[in-house]
Amino acid sequence: MNALVTYYSQTGNTEKLARAIHEAISIAKEIKPVQDLESADGYDLIFCGFPVQAHSVPGKVQSFIKGLPKGQKVAFFFTHGSLSGGQLPKQAFEHAIGLAPTATILGHFGCRGSVDQKIIDALMQKPEHRAWAQEAQSAEGHPDRGDFDDAETFALEMIAKIGS
Ligand SMILES: Cc1cc2nc3c(=O)[nH]c(=O)nc-3n(C[C@H](O)[C@H](O)[C@H](O)COP(=O)(O)O)c2cc1C
Repeated sequence: MNALVTYYSQTGNTEKLARAIHEAISIAKEIKPVQDLESADGYDLIFCGFPVQAHSVPGKVQSFIKGLPKGQKVAFFFTHGSLSGGQLPKQAFEHAIGLAPTATILGHFGCRGSVDQKIIDALMQKPEHRAWAQEAQSAEGHPDRGDFDDAETFALEMIAKIGS
């Protein structure tokens, strides 16, 4: 059994989560940014991580998800500035699932990730971004120790699902 942890991270939050997931995995494993990946063939499980951007999945990750072979087992993880449990991150995750209709999605994990105050200030001026930018102010400090613990638990649950 082997697993790949692949991710895209613009400001480092999703990368931190990817590292926590990678550390928690007890089977053969690799970790690589999605843009450095030559092939994703031959893995029993792929953890695929991304930051929510503009209510959606960043382009590089979209292409990766669309190219997943039929039946590939995948677990998604993502970070977002908006509040946990709200509609906004749910929408991005549902988008990710929609891109991979033939993959086997084992589960997902999301947590908040801090956004630089300068970016928040700039986005508050744009009506299409105001809602999440307003919520994002309280994401400061995330991902934190509790988020990493939850991500590790998630990783172990996903590994248990592939039966090793
Ligand atoms: C260009 C840009 C667009 C973003 N759009 C959203 C969004 O639509 N909804 C949201 O909840 N967070 C949004 N965020 C916040 C990021 O999802 C959050 O900070 C995430 O943790 C960043 O992960 P990273 O450090 O791995 O890039 C956006 C951030 C950036 C820089």
